[in-house]
Amino acid sequence: MIISVTPVTPNKDDSPEHLPQHLAIIMDGNGRWAKARGQARVQGHRRGVDAARRATTLCGEAGIRYLTLFAFSSENWRRPDEEVHFLTQLLALSLEKELGRLHENGVKLNIIGDPSSFGRKLAKTIDNALEKTSNNTTLTLTIALNYGARQELVSAVRRLAESCVANELSPRAISESDLEGALNTHGLPDPDLLVRTGGEVRLSNFLLWQLAYTELFFSDVLWPDFNEALFWDAIGAYQGRQRRFGQIGEQVDSQFGRR
Ligand code: IPE
Ligand code: IPE
Ligand code: MG
Repeated sequence: MIISVTPVTPNKDDSPEHLPQHLAIIMDGNGRWAKARGQARVQGHRRGVDAARRATTLCGEAGIRYLTLFAFSSENWRRPDEEVHFLTQLLALSLEKELGRLHENGVKLNIIGDPSSFGRKLAKTIDNALEKTSNNTTLTLTIALNYGARQELVSAVRRLAESCVANELSPRAISESDLEGALNTHGLPDPDLLVRTGGEVRLSNFLLWQLAYTELFFSDVLWPDFNEALFWDAIGAYQGRQRRFGQIGEQVDSQFGRR
């Protein structure tokens, strides 16, 4: 039995049932992109920023409401100091450079993770960008910076334990929504679609709680080469999936009015 068929042509209609409301991307493959061209890894990161700009524009144009980009993981500190330093500078510069355009296009910036370890310059740039874009509503762009899902879960558990010790919460009463509320992503819907470029088929400590029922799409394309065609390939694949959330197919079809 064929359960899901990937449409050859994606449906570009921006009505909510045709699009993921929230797209999350693990932007991987910058280093290999540069190496393949005989360039330093950092050149791949530079081109990676251009790809992130393309992804943001495509989401805005398509009508996707939430885009979450994995830019630096808690484990990326294990890279050589020079690469970490370059990435920190690049993030600050790119954010400064892009801020005006993001704001004009109604993008609200959001950060998950712990960017405080990147130093004061980036922290200031981030604070300014968060404040400037706080009332925008077209697209919420979340950037995961020094983010790790296990670390996020540990600090959420710690927060709930503190509430219990303070008698504000009973351990028996702890619910999924309490845990969700203590995560960095509180207030954001779970991603509907996760795209990972770069050929690796793993999550690398990204959004482990939030991805529980997310559709996954992996591509060999290296992140700097991310383009409109790949974007619509991923959306087309998503549109061909039947999300069942543990139900049987017919229940989902009647719920969403599908045939
Ligand atoms: C993703 O590209 C960017 C970051 C993790 C910061 P990589 O730098 O991991 O590129 P590859 O995987 O080594 O090619
Ligand atoms: C995941 O990519 C992190 C980001 C894209 C920011 P990595 O390149 O760090 O992942 P691994 O090490 O291959 O799992
Ligand atoms: Mg990588």
